[in-house]
Amino acid sequence: MNRIKTLTLAVVATALAASSLTAQARDFRLGLITPPQHMWSTEAEAFAETLHERSDGEHSVSVFPAQQLGNEAQMVQQLQTGALDMAFLTIAEISNRIPDFGALYAPYLVDGVDHAARLLRSDTAAELLELMPAEVGLVGVGYGMVGMRQVLSRDPIESMDDMRGQRLRITPFEPIRDFYTATGAAPAPLPLLEVYDALANGQVDAIDMDFDSILILKFYEQANNLLISNHMMFPMVGVVSGRVWRELSAEDRDLIETTMAEHLENVLSGFQEMDAAQEEEIRGLDLNIVEADAEFFSEAIAEWESTWAEKAPMLEALREEAERLRQ
Ligand code: BEZ
Repeated sequence: MNRIKTLTLAVVATALAASSLTAQARDFRLGLITPPQHMWSTEAEAFAETLHERSDGEHSVSVFPAQQLGNEAQMVQQLQTGALDMAFLTIAEISNRIPDFGALYAPYLVDGVDHAARLLRSDTAAELLELMPAEVGLVGVGYGMVGMRQVLSRDPIESMDDMRGQRLRITPFEPIRDFYTATGAAPAPLPLLEVYDALANGQVDAIDMDFDSILILKFYEQANNLLISNHMMFPMVGVVSGRVWRELSAEDRDLIETTMAEHLENVLSGFQEMDAAQEEEIRGLDLNIVEADAEFFSEAIAEWESTWAEKAPMLEALREEAERLRQ
């Protein structure tokens, strides 16, 4: 066989291999930590259904909620090796690996869920996603969120003095740990699904939580004091493994990106729609409610800023964007 013919055959073989790769039906796996009834999980299922339909049945997605594939740190490792294809992750784990994401947790960066959603839809927030392929080997498709953070406690918290010494459950990540340490509390990192028992058996005195989780996981059964502080937003990010991404055709990438982004947007708008009704429902429960604002936490905020302004240089740009989007 002459050299030209060998080369031609090699090119044809490569093209065939590529086209059979693109034509290959895939059953993707998507992991997340929230329980099946949580909106992140129901939207993940809805994403699976839409992708199946839009790929004319070629692709399917099996969704693994409730930490079935491990905690977020473990899922990130699986995504990095390509053992897991996709996930909806709290920004918590991402901020442990890319400190700039910690800027999204600046206390009182946003006024509430509507402001949070506007900021997460902004180009400045999208710039953060661009850091993900190089720094963690994941493709960040877009943001979701839950509602603003509040403090539910067994004993009343009426001033910063009452925070001191509280064993206070946090999601395991550094920006929130630093915030509560600065309040004088003793942060206790615990995954979402361990919180109910930890409150019930006295392992923790208080929890950092959002309205939706307080309601669906019934945390109010174990603690009846609520500090409505709205002190931080709590974003989520929809990701695809960088290794898996590289194997996909341009057409499949586009399909996955567009479809996942639509369902992430449903999460953002869903939490915007639910927030007022959830607050009303919570106010209707038999809880002792105290309200707090940035002034309440002023010393802790100053301490947090002194650490995170340096650790997360994107904080300045996000703050400017948040200011522009304030209404
Ligand atoms: C949490 O860790 O508090 C949490 C995580 C995911 C969704 C809602 C809450």
